[in-house]
Amino acid sequence: MINNPIVKFERWWDEVKRFGLKHPGAVCVSTINEQGFPSGRFVDLKDIADDCFIFCTNLDSQKGHDIEKNDRVALTFWWEAIGYQVRIIGHASQISSEAADRYWDTRPRDAQITTHSCQQSKLLISEKLLQVQFEKVKASLEGMEIPRPDNWGGYAVEPIMIEFLTFKASRLHLRERYTIVENEWSKELLQP
Ligand SMILES: Cc1cc2nc3c(=O)[nH]c(=O)nc-3n(C[C@H](O)[C@H](O)[C@H](O)COP(=O)(O)O)c2cc1C
Repeated sequence: MINNPIVKFERWWDEVKRFGLKHPGAVCVSTINEQGFPSGRFVDLKDIADDCFIFCTNLDSQKGHDIEKNDRVALTFWWEAIGYQVRIIGHASQISSEAADRYWDTRPRDAQITTHSCQQSKLLISEKLLQVQFEKVKASLEGMEIPRPDNWGGYAVEPIMIEFLTFKASRLHLRERYTIVENEWSKELLQP
């Protein structure tokens, strides 16, 4: 039996990666907005570091603003190919600029250009303008190493609860919930 949910997650994560999915790291990040509404959107899980789940984004985006006001977030994975769901709740904090630089350097050049050519979550006048802006920025950065913008970074989510669900066709799913109790992970089963 695995008593540490991070170790269990890493095992599932390795299994998922072996499946050759197109977006194995797609995870729904839910934040709470200023009106108290939850707001979910998918991002890519970049890493698991120091027992935290890392994703990267524009810090001035909607999710960035939400986290600034309220660090409580949820992460939800569903890997259909393998029948696993993982639900995490925890506290998000910004990663260091050194760590952000490392993740930035792993991004494809086009993604870096897109980041420079857009203001994520702001209103867009027309779809055409998006391409025009992209081409303009691409030409201006031709032959150069693309620097990380100051407002692109990442968040580390420190979990306080992780639930693993193993999907069963009978709907008798196995639900294993880990919570932090007095600084230790404690495991319970839940009815499906
Ligand atoms: C599979 C998938 C992966 C995505 N990965 C990221 C990501 O890693 N970072 C990011 O900022 N947006 C990512 N997006 C776009 C987000 O879903 C979202 O549109 C964007 O971050 C703006 O969200 P916000 O306005 O709520 O902040 C991804 C979308 C999909 C469908």
